[in-house]
Amino acid sequence: MTVDINTPVRLVAISGSIRRASHCTAVLRSLTPLLPPTVTMELLPLDDVPLYNGDLDGDTLPPAVKRLKAAIAEADGLVICSPEYNYGIPGVLKNAIDWASRPGFASPLKDKLALIMTASPGTAGGVRAQAQIRDALSATLARPLVRQHIAIANVANRIQDGKLVDEPTLNFIKAGLDDLINEIHWQAARTKQA
Ligand code: FNR
Repeated sequence: MTVDINTPVRLVAISGSIRRASHCTAVLRSLTPLLPPTVTMELLPLDDVPLYNGDLDGDTLPPAVKRLKAAIAEADGLVICSPEYNYGIPGVLKNAIDWASRPGFASPLKDKLALIMTASPGTAGGVRAQAQIRDALSATLARPLVRQHIAIANVANRIQDGKLVDEPTLNFIKAGLDDLINEIHWQAARTKQA
């Protein structure tokens, strides 16, 4: 099997928070310099995604849902950073996963590799939400990366002027991104061979 690490890779970044000064979005915006030149990452905003409603889930999808599903379908991998709300996954993110998960077990999320991160101004770094995000993605047959969890505690202290500036945290995330990119190349090689 030949693994070509020079194949271009497209990542889509999804923040579980839609507020303008979101720490999670700030983390995602800080990652581009950590990527190799063959890898691009686009932030996919969830602001306009309506609440899931089966009545709207037909041939003509709401435009923001259409964009969401197309972006996920075209991506080689997802990078998610989310806060934790009341010990769990924020509704905004769960709602996006629900939309993107249809048709069940055959959606754009199927087999999609995903690096999951959570961040919190508190000390637990959103680990409880992270478990729920993994579980929800597993239900869609996506492939959340199995590796050391990235849970960023005290996130507010690590951000300056809308950018993650804490070097150890950036290095820890870079290792996760490298794992994701590697796994994408392996997945491509396996698909080619099959
Ligand atoms: C929170 N926050 C929070 N934090 C946490 O670590 N565990 C939790 O259970 C909760 N619960 C919670 C519920 C609700 C409704 C809100 C609005 C907030 C705090 C949360 O982590 C903090 O507001 C983050 O800064 C939100 O992420 P962004 O928007 O900065 O990315």
